[in-house]
Amino acid sequence: MTVVELKNKAKEAIINCISLEELKEVYNQYLSKKGEVSGLMSQMRNLPNEEKPAFGQMVNDLKNELETLYKNTLDHLNEEALNQKLEAEKIDLTLPATNFSVGQRHPLVMVQRELEDIYREMGDSIVEGLEIELDLYNFERANIPKNHPARDMQDTFFITEETLLRTHTTAIQTRALEMFAPNLPIKVVCPGKVYRKDDDDATHSNQFVQMEALVVGHGITLADLKGTLELLAKRMFGNTRTIRFRPSYFQFTEPSVEVDVSCHICDGKGCSICKNTGWIEILGAGMVHPEVLKMAGYKDPTVTGFAFGLGVERVAMLKYGIDDIRHFYTNDSRFLKQFKKFD
Ligand code: PHE
Repeated sequence: MTVVELKNKAKEAIINCISLEELKEVYNQYLSKKGEVSGLMSQMRNLPNEEKPAFGQMVNDLKNELETLYKNTLDHLNEEALNQKLEAEKIDLTLPATNFSVGQRHPLVMVQRELEDIYREMGDSIVEGLEIELDLYNFERANIPKNHPARDMQDTFFITEETLLRTHTTAIQTRALEMFAPNLPIKVVCPGKVYRKDDDDATHSNQFVQMEALVVGHGITLADLKGTLELLAKRMFGNTRTIRFRPSYFQFTEPSVEVDVSCHICDGKGCSICKNTGWIEILGAGMVHPEVLKMAGYKDPTVTGFAFGLGVERVAMLKYGIDDIRHFYTNDSRFLKQFKKFD
């Protein structure tokens, strides 16, 4: 093969390479130590001496030319390989982000916070107590002595004879009274979980959240209680709500009342929610029994106070139209997610 033939063949082979592997093979064939270009040199032996320098020069030029072409092709193929890799690994920054589901506040916590905010505006401070409570604060200081039939109103989980799971947030109230005595006035709100040996159904749960408010001072009257509750009802259920008192009985208040709010669904006209009465029973309340004040250390008979306690689940159920108390405790995310918009 002549130098020119080899040159054309090698050039074409290099130019036609479409991959680095192919180029490597072509390099080995023509440009490596044992390649065809080096092979030309062996022809030198057969040439007359005067032709040798020119031939050597020609082979060298060929080698240089092919090497330059090889390098350019190598650069080009390397660049192409890199581009392909970048293309394959390309990240589209405009794609929508992966959605991580984040939690939100539990509806009961939302309602509790809302109530706390209303009380705080009225100047109350928040006091929390103990879920495992002494019989003393849960019952005796609430004017419910041992063996009194009033204990049957609340079916109790006893732990020992003297300790129990508190059945009402009144236990926080009796502790707060003792803690503050003899200072006045007292304005506290006491939220917390309470426990009763109830069979669970749509409206009963053996664990629920109560919130109790207590105001004690000189000359506090039932009218103060009524004004406070009216404000609370309007804030929770709308400005046109009214309330009414019905006589009731609790050991720790005298007089005691059951409080109804005019139905926020039908505006008091009568519907299935208010059982066609126009009123919804919402909480228990009353004037703190003088015995309760005395036991806590307030001996002055002009010191009076009111207390009321409500069930947070019940308020949440009425406010959001929830028909089963068990939804709060089964933690079905489909239920819980619906409250995100209120958070
Ligand atoms: N402790 C009562 C209950 O659990 C509610 C209540 C609180 C009533 C304060 C009157 C005053 O049912």
